[in-house]
Amino acid sequence: MTRHFLALGDAGGDALAAMIADAIERKDYRRDVPKGAPDGDAPLAGHVLAMVFEKNSTRTRVSFDMAMRQLGGSAIVLDAGTTQLGRGETVADTARVLSRMADAIMIRTDDHAKIEEMAAHASVPVINGLTDRSHPCQIVADLLTLVEHGKALPGLELAWLGDGNNVLNSIVEAAGLLKFNVRIGVPQGYESDQSFIEAARARGARISVHRDAAEAVAGADVVVTDTWVSMGQEHAHNKLAAMAPYQVNPLLMQQAKGDALFLHCLPAHRGEEVTDAVIDGPQSVVWDEAENRIHAQKSVLRWVFGQL
Ligand code: CP
Ligand code: NVA
Repeated sequence: MTRHFLALGDAGGDALAAMIADAIERKDYRRDVPKGAPDGDAPLAGHVLAMVFEKNSTRTRVSFDMAMRQLGGSAIVLDAGTTQLGRGETVADTARVLSRMADAIMIRTDDHAKIEEMAAHASVPVINGLTDRSHPCQIVADLLTLVEHGKALPGLELAWLGDGNNVLNSIVEAAGLLKFNVRIGVPQGYESDQSFIEAARARGARISVHRDAAEAVAGADVVVTDTWVSMGQEHAHNKLAAMAPYQVNPLLMQQAKGDALFLHCLPAHRGEEVTDAVIDGPQSVVWDEAENRIHAQKSVLRWVFGQL
């Protein structure tokens, strides 16, 4: 059966833990090796990943390309605007064609239904590089970063501040799979998808929703935020005003544990969801988090090819 990675649940908790362990091992093994040099075992030698972008990207694009190089393979970038997909060729036909030409497909798009359509018609693995609904690859990198910085995931208290978006949905999904707790500080009207919350709770994770930002952060092991306006959303003035009390600044960070870490998937909007003092401060591990996109993606790729 073709392994797709549209959601963290496609892999499940055990495979997710195996991906994190594999990423730590491979990252450690290649310290001091030039970034573009392949790993000694080149486990994906000869494999090609086709990457389809219907939205902008810096990290996802570069990290998947670097991940494929390090695994011994290569990647092709297709910006949707310059492909036939951008002129109306169907997702299904694109899936059929890319399946004949490449060994796997990564797609970043808006409507999650499109990636499901791609997977339904592809005969090679399809990987979710972000949709309006979720961003699972990002969360593998986030969890890797936390583990690398000494945090045990089971029982971890993670505070999310700001918009209830695609990144939060995947964090909540991970909480259910790996048994950590999420305290969501979000203004009324901008909550995340309730179905993710219910699924995580059913698996035993504690997910709480708070209107008071300080209450959400109190005693947290990790504080996480993201842009208040995601790609494709309107820059509405009333949304920014509603988000203002949820800005992650030094005063808010003080409510978390003394050794709490700060994560942000990036790109950051400095002065909006986070201040310079926090993102550039001693608790921030955002640059490790960004680099870890490469290492996490390598594990995701190895998983879809049945190597993990
Ligand atoms: N975090 C993330 O996915 O970044 P890009 O939008 O730059 O890919
Ligand atoms: N929530 C953001 C994440 C960007 C990586 C967005 O969808 O734009």
